Amino acid sequence: MTSHDDQIALLQQRYGSQTKPNNIHWTPQVEAMLSHRSVRTFLSKPLPEGALETMIAAAQSASNSSALNQWSLVAVTDSELKQKISNTVALTVPTDRIPWIEEAPVLLLWVADLSRSEKITKEQGGDPIVLDYLDSFLMASIDTSLAAQNASLAAESMRLGVVFLGVMRNAAEEIAKIVNLPSYSFITFGMAVGHPDPSRFSSIRPRPAQPMVLHHNYYQSNEFTSYLEKYEESLFDFRVKQGMKIKTWQEAVYSAATSMKYMGGREKLRQTVTKKGFKLL
Ligand SMILES: Cc1cc2nc3c(=O)[nH]c(=O)nc-3n(C[C@H](O)[C@H](O)[C@H](O)COP(=O)(O)O)c2cc1C
Repeated sequence: MTSHDDQIALLQQRYGSQTKPNNIHWTPQVEAMLSHRSVRTFLSKPLPEGALETMIAAAQSASNSSALNQWSLVAVTDSELKQKISNTVALTVPTDRIPWIEEAPVLLLWVADLSRSEKITKEQGGDPIVLDYLDSFLMASIDTSLAAQNASLAAESMRLGVVFLGVMRNAAEEIAKIVNLPSYSFITFGMAVGHPDPSRFSSIRPRPAQPMVLHHNYYQSNEFTSYLEKYEESLFDFRVKQGMKIKTWQEAVYSAATSMKYMGGREKLRQTVTKKGFKLL
């Protein structure tokens, strides 16, 4: 556990100049979670022995819907294969390289996986009709996300860094082929994992003040607007400190909601998912 001053500093980084929660129970887990930042710069060292097993044990310890174990993980360590996946994804974004995939010693592909359920059901002579519903796809995707988040916390507790990679879905069909994914399975996202490069370390990215996301008993539809200005201020300070291009959060929200370029190929997702056997009824 770090000192009280460190805890104040963590809240300062997480909320910037906004109103901060003042009643945090600083358990070691809470402190670890509040320290999270995505890491996109890695040393070329491999993961420590046992790190992957530890992450998977943490992932498997997450709650999962009806204990059906409907996720899988493809851990890509072969550097040629990793480069091939990176190149494939790079074709879908405005850059010809995605250095954090290339630098990370391991690329994890988190797979929402109903293929085992399908097989087990069919082997017993059943018709897996439930798997054809959107809820089954969503359930597997939710479970995959919970597992991945647990794995990322485990990684961070071992002083490794991670970044989730939704960009994998830009080339979902191609990557599924490259790694031989069966029907009824789908890469929800990737995750680059490795030793953070201390000379290019990232800062904690501020989040909105709690009242912007927390509603007591009833949802207050327009309350969030009164917290925007302060959030923008905190993000502005973060971006300046990180040497990032200045844009407001609301501009980012706008462009994520209006720009098909932002989708980077994910607009074809329904076709890709249904090609993998899911019917999404
Ligand atoms: C499901 C998911 C997909 C993401 N995809 C990408 C991605 O493709 N590329 C990337 O650089 N960051 C990606 N991120 C990381 C987010 O950009 C990052 O979590 C967010 O900016 C907040 O920053 P922080 O994680 O440092 O707090 C993703 C995060 C999540 C949860």
